[in-house]
Amino acid sequence: MHVLLVVGTLAALVAAVPSKNPYASALAPPYLNLLAKAKGKLWFGTATDIPGVEQQDQEYMSILNDSKIFGQLTPANAMKFQFTEPEQNNFTYAGGQEVIDLAKQHGNRYVRCHNLVWVTEVSEWVLDRNWTAEALTEVMKNHIYNVVTHFGDSCYSWDVVNEALNDNGTWAPSVWFDTIGPEYFYKAYQFAEEAVKLTGKDIKLYYNDYNIEYPGPKATGVVGLVKELKRRKLKIDGVGLETHYEVGTAPSYEQQIEASKMYTALGVDIARTELDVRFTQLPYNSSGLALQAKEYYDAVKSCVDIRQCIGMTVWDFVDKYSWVPGTFPGKGGADIYGLGNSNYTRKPAYYAVGDALAGHPCSVCGHN
Ligand SMILES: *[C@@H]1O[C@H](CO)[C@@H](O)[C@H](O)[C@H]1NC(C)=O
Ligand SMILES: *[C@@H]1O[C@H](CO)[C@@H](O)[C@H](O)[C@H]1NC(C)=O
Ligand SMILES: *[C@@H]1O[C@H](CO)[C@@H](O)[C@H](O)[C@H]1NC(C)=O
Ligand SMILES: *[C@@H]1O[C@H](CO)[C@@H](O)[C@H](O)[C@H]1NC(C)=O
Ligand SMILES: *[C@@H]1O[C@H](CO)[C@@H](O)[C@H](O)[C@H]1NC(C)=O
Ligand SMILES: *[C@@H]1O[C@H](CO)[C@@H](O)[C@H](O)[C@H]1NC(C)=O
Repeated sequence: MHVLLVVGTLAALVAAVPSKNPYASALAPPYLNLLAKAKGKLWFGTATDIPGVEQQDQEYMSILNDSKIFGQLTPANAMKFQFTEPEQNNFTYAGGQEVIDLAKQHGNRYVRCHNLVWVTEVSEWVLDRNWTAEALTEVMKNHIYNVVTHFGDSCYSWDVVNEALNDNGTWAPSVWFDTIGPEYFYKAYQFAEEAVKLTGKDIKLYYNDYNIEYPGPKATGVVGLVKELKRRKLKIDGVGLETHYEVGTAPSYEQQIEASKMYTALGVDIARTELDVRFTQLPYNSSGLALQAKEYYDAVKSCVDIRQCIGMTVWDFVDKYSWVPGTFPGKGGADIYGLGNSNYTRKPAYYAVGDALAGHPCSVCGHN
């Protein structure tokens, strides 16, 4: 009688309190960041292309602002060269600062700052001139010094050089490599280290690339870069494994563990920095969603299971704003939110990530 009364009262209470948040189902458990932290990781996070149209989207912002789900932000574009130095020696920091503010206003979250030296999204004034190696090295140094000292330890880390290698492990072309040669790479880390010293803060320096999540010539190439940085006594704290996969061809859990250990054996941290798993055929079907879930699960589990893997970041969380269709026409559906173009319904992949972070078997991976 007494118990029934209590249960009845509780039920009445629950029924009487309307859900105030219209986005409650997109914000319900499992809480990916809280689960990651409970496993000793620094974060589960997301990239976000702010400033942008996303800021007018209340549901997007509600999820992005929720530090239970995302404990770290990466500016998808705002800190890249063409946005931070659009004219020579005239720096614009406002876009990057918006991401930093958003990270700090909700749970004092981490920011992975991205990136200093890359082939793409370099300002026109850099590309339009014929530089001597000396002059372009000065451009690189000025950029790195200014941007790193400006943002200081609002950045947990910087991706110093992004995507320096071809898939076969040889140097990839870029204005930097083509003009300066391989020394551009080591100079970039030297300047970044000098700039960090000027701040007097602890800011980690990373190398970030894709197709290095499994053993192969590119992973071996990255091992060579890290070893050479260490041989030169330059600061290198970690390797960012981007983790952009396609449904059906993602590397196995075992391959990912093997590659991860190639890096951690050198004494550096690793992070999953740009996780997404795109479909090559659309529309996707339910068996495809289960396979995608498994591929997310294996990627996340292979970070959870390696102590030096400090955190995982998805490259935005909803298909609506994914970079994939713009870069790979006809492909998509890569993110953890947006089931069936619903905008914000979670996919099985979301729950697979939750399972991997909790240390549970995958409940949504089907027979995969
Ligand atoms: C998200 O956080 C920003 C910055 O604190 C705030 O301006 C915005 O109103 C928030 N949006 C939502 C939907 O919570
Ligand atoms: C720097 O860029 C800003 C914004 O584009 C512009 O208003 C300003 O005049 C520039 N400053 C110089 C010294 O060129
Ligand atoms: C750069 O050098 C190339 C080859 O020597 C030449 O064709 C081009 O006009 C030069 N560009 C500029 C902006 O000087
Ligand atoms: C490595 O790959 C690049 C880019 O695809 C290609 O240009 C180069 O010839 C390859 N080098 C070797 C040694 O295979
Ligand atoms: C379902 O999707 C998967 C992965 O995209 C694809 O390989 C498979 O052929 C599809 N199955 C059917 C019945 O269309
Ligand atoms: C998704 O969002 C767009 C606006 O961006 C809206 O027009 C559309 O109705 C939404 N779809 C659903 C299923 O809510």
